[in-house]
Amino acid sequence: MMADILAHKHIILGITGGIAAYKAATLCSRLVQAGATVDVVMTEAAQQFITPLTFQALTHRRIYHDIFDIPDGENIPHISLADQADLLIIAPATTNTLAKLANGLADNLLTTIALATPAPILVAPAMETDMWQHPATQSNMAKLEQWGVTLAGPAEGRLASGAVGRGRMVEPEEILDMARLRLAQAGDLAGCNLVVTAGGTRETIDPVRFISNHSTGKMGYAIAHAARDRGAKVTLISTASLSVPIGVALIPVDSAQQMRDAVMDVVRLADVLIMSAAVADFRPATVAEQKIKKKADSSIGMSIDLVRTPDILADVATYKNQMAQNGDVVCPKVTIGFAAESENLLTNAEGKLKRKNLDMIAANNISASDAGFGVDTNRVTLLMADGKKEELPLMSKRSVAEIILDKVMGLLH
Ligand code: C5P
Repeated sequence: MMADILAHKHIILGITGGIAAYKAATLCSRLVQAGATVDVVMTEAAQQFITPLTFQALTHRRIYHDIFDIPDGENIPHISLADQADLLIIAPATTNTLAKLANGLADNLLTTIALATPAPILVAPAMETDMWQHPATQSNMAKLEQWGVTLAGPAEGRLASGAVGRGRMVEPEEILDMARLRLAQAGDLAGCNLVVTAGGTRETIDPVRFISNHSTGKMGYAIAHAARDRGAKVTLISTASLSVPIGVALIPVDSAQQMRDAVMDVVRLADVLIMSAAVADFRPATVAEQKIKKKADSSIGMSIDLVRTPDILADVATYKNQMAQNGDVVCPKVTIGFAAESENLLTNAEGKLKRKNLDMIAANNISASDAGFGVDTNRVTLLMADGKKEELPLMSKRSVAEIILDKVMGLLH
């Protein structure tokens, strides 16, 4: 099981001289909270905006700024730091520092480390809009991106000058997420194309009403997040409006039919499909064009005719069979379903595992208040196609996601 990908990573946080340097303190604190070892390297100009003491207090480590400040018995900082780093983040990155990086200059400790390190580099530019848009900056950025430097922002918004435009440093949380995405490229699911569905489908009755269920999408988003952090290329097909992890491709859908179409569209290139969405089994036979009005006589009941929705997993199974019969490469290689049940949990889940031709099904009893819909925890039993069964205790949805992905790894190899 994996923790936050930032845990135990060695991050060099480079801070250059822009007013957004004050936000670097929050970024530094979040990195430390995520379990990373953070070494801060500041330029001279950065120290005009924020003191090294702030970062020393946050990291409990010495702060580096002078290339020639080498305590007795220590290695030259630009060599030792550069070698140890898993990632170099420069936030904020001024136009000046970006220009130096793009031209291979090494006139201070930070730019020297940037040249010396084999670690990936993530930059979060922060500057006035005119400086960002200047052809010199744009061509420097293009060069850096071509060299594999990851770019976070800049965002549009209010700048320190009071003007509004592109140039704001992106918020620390976004930089943190970009850092995870960058580090994930070395994860165990790197190169894996994973599709996950999330949320409850909405089946329209009339322009204001629909039939749905209590699913919030939290389990599917936890899977998307965890898979992204392990390096997978993730497509999330979702009815929910939760925040989408950076790097995850979202396909928003509403109904079971839309979800089916989206799944069938992307599954052809997928290695793994995880259907965690609660898909409606029935939809109204017709959709009223206008809002359905109450009957004047309240004793007369209302009824809605329902018809079956497509069974997405059954359609995927048919598609896989056709691929196999044609002698084609079968996609997705691994198919996983969920069974949300209020009774006869394991018997029902076993039936679905076989009927839908799944490699694994995660069965959860939705009658418990601490597991299933809406909450951040879940208690599932994993049933494998080969008959193996694993009952997991109550744990966070993220932990359930990690265990499911561990099984995916096993099934893929
Ligand atoms: O048969 P049941 O709907 O209970 O099976 C649950 C599993 O099947 C879930 O993985 C769900 O996402 C998927 N499903 C589906 N198409 C449907 C209904 C459910 O793929 N129409």
